[in-house]
Amino acid sequence: LANYILKNGKPLVVRNASVGDAETIVAVVSQVTSEVVYLLWDPTYYNVEVERNYIARANEKQNILILVAEEEGRIVGVGELKIGDFRKNKHIADLGIAVVNEFRRLGVGTSLMKEMILWARKNRLEKICLSVFSTNKGAFSLYERFDFAVEAVRRRQFKLNGVYVDEILMAKFLN
Ligand SMILES: CC(C)(COP(=O)(O)OP(=O)(O)OC[C@H]1O[C@@H](n2cnc3c(N)ncnc32)[C@H](O)[C@@H]1OP(=O)(O)O)[C@@H](O)C(=O)NCCC(=O)NCCS
Repeated sequence: LANYILKNGKPLVVRNASVGDAETIVAVVSQVTSEVVYLLWDPTYYNVEVERNYIARANEKQNILILVAEEEGRIVGVGELKIGDFRKNKHIADLGIAVVNEFRRLGVGTSLMKEMILWARKNRLEKICLSVFSTNKGAFSLYERFDFAVEAVRRRQFKLNGVYVDEILMAKFLN
C-alpha cells in the first residue's frame, strides 16, 4: 500500500487488487477499451468472472502484480506487471496500465508506474517490457519519463478504426 498526492491536491492510494475489485477493474478497463485508440482488447474481451479468477490466481502464484489506484475510495486506474511464465523469461515482466479518462494528467499513471517498478526491483526482475500504439503520444511520453527505450517497431501491426498504426515495443532495464 502506498500513498500519493495528486495534482488536484487529493490523496491517492495505490494498493494490490483483491478478488472483490474485479467488477470495478473490468468497468475501468472496459471504459478505456471503448475509447478504442489506447488498448488492444475489444470491449467484450473479458468479464468479471474471468477477472476474478485472474486476480485470485495472480495473488496465489505471486507472478502477476495487479495494482489499483484509488481516489476517495473510487478506483480510477489499474496497473499490471506480469512476470514471464518460463525459466527462460522469468527475469522479465510485461507492463500494462490504464487510467480513466477524467483522472488523466493528475499523476495517477506516474504513481502506478513507480509502484510497479519498485515491485519489479524487489522481485529482482531485470527488464520491464511493454507495447504501445505509435499514435498513443501520452503513454509514450509517460514511458519515456521512466526511461523506457524503444526496442522495436512492428509496422502496421494494428488497425484502429480502419487506420493502420505501428506497434512500438519499449523496455527498461533494471540492472
Ligand atoms: C497513459 C496513461 C496511463 C497516463 O496516465 P496519467 O495518469 O494521465 O499520467 P500522469 O498524470 O502521471 O502523467 C505523467 C506524465 O506523462 C506524460 N503524459 C501523460 N499523458 C500525456 C498526454 N496525453 N500527452 C502528453 N504527455 C502525457 C506527461 O509528461 C505527464 O506529465 P505532466 O502531466 O506533468 O505533463 C493514461 O493517459 C491512460 O490511461 N491512457 C489510456 C490507456 C493507455 O493508453 N494505456 C497505455 C497503453 S500502452
